[in-house]
Amino acid sequence: MRFKGKRVVVTGGASGIGRATVDAFIAEGAQVMIGDLNGEAGAAMAAESRYDNRLAFHKTDVCEEGDIVALLDSAADHFGGIDILFNNAGAAGARARIDEITADEWDFTHRLLLRSVALGIRHVVPHMQRAGGGAIVNTASINAYEAGWGPIAYATAKAGVMHLSKLAAAQLAQHKIRVNSVSPGFIMTNIFAGAFGDDADQARRVDATIRAVAPKAQPVARAGMPEDIAQAVLYLTSDQGGFVTGADLLVDGGMTIGHRHSWDPDTPGLLDLIAPAS
Ligand code: NAI
Repeated sequence: MRFKGKRVVVTGGASGIGRATVDAFIAEGAQVMIGDLNGEAGAAMAAESRYDNRLAFHKTDVCEEGDIVALLDSAADHFGGIDILFNNAGAAGARARIDEITADEWDFTHRLLLRSVALGIRHVVPHMQRAGGGAIVNTASINAYEAGWGPIAYATAKAGVMHLSKLAAAQLAQHKIRVNSVSPGFIMTNIFAGAFGDDADQARRVDATIRAVAPKAQPVARAGMPEDIAQAVLYLTSDQGGFVTGADLLVDGGMTIGHRHSWDPDTPGLLDLIAPAS
């Protein structure tokens, strides 16, 4: 019960990584307010009896500053303050390449993934000052580390989230607020199928492909699960993580260790290809 008495806000808490983190916080004694665009899923979660009235929901679009302020005010009213914020809401955003993307596509993606995090931090500070300090975690991505895992607007926004977390940690230490980011690898959630909007057939195909490839996508030979990220977030926001600030915790099953041939015996590397045949 590391989080007994702690008041937590989780954006994007109605699905995937956010939802698993909500469950983990509640299991360890916290009270949680979810902010999510999906009103139906959020309201259904808040109505579940297993949460024992320790879960509340506020419909929120993190692209809107007013919605972020309202979410935080509502959590502070409901629980009497805020100790922890997980800025996690997101989606794939624009899929276009740099030689095709429009200004509107770029702006939308960065507003959803980077500006939302900056404003979440900006507006939670007064609440955390009143609480005597706090802990913030922001969801970055392996896309912040290297190319090849997602669209360019998404990846640059996530790199921004990682650096923003470090700079905010420096500026907020004086208020006893720690700020870190978590970088998930390939995690089994709705985000990939969701990128295909209303095309249900395409979404089903994507989902089936993900289920097939996820266990073989990285050195740790199983699919990455939302709970893997939830446990990282709990560590970073707990007293056990009390000396950690400005850090990024990479939770990717080794996906970014190096080239596939370095860990997959079935993938030949350059040296294998140029070695003389015996
Ligand atoms: P998900 O699709 O399961 O959950 C995302 C949640 O965010 C949904 O409940 C959705 O309604 C909400 N959301 C989307 N736009 C919103 C908005 N404008 N305002 C409020 N809520 C909004 O996806 P997942 O995978 O759990 O994503 C969570 C975070 O993890 C995202 O920031 C994503 O970029 C990041 N991430 C996910 C990875 C993965 O492999 N699943 C890898 C790296 C990062």
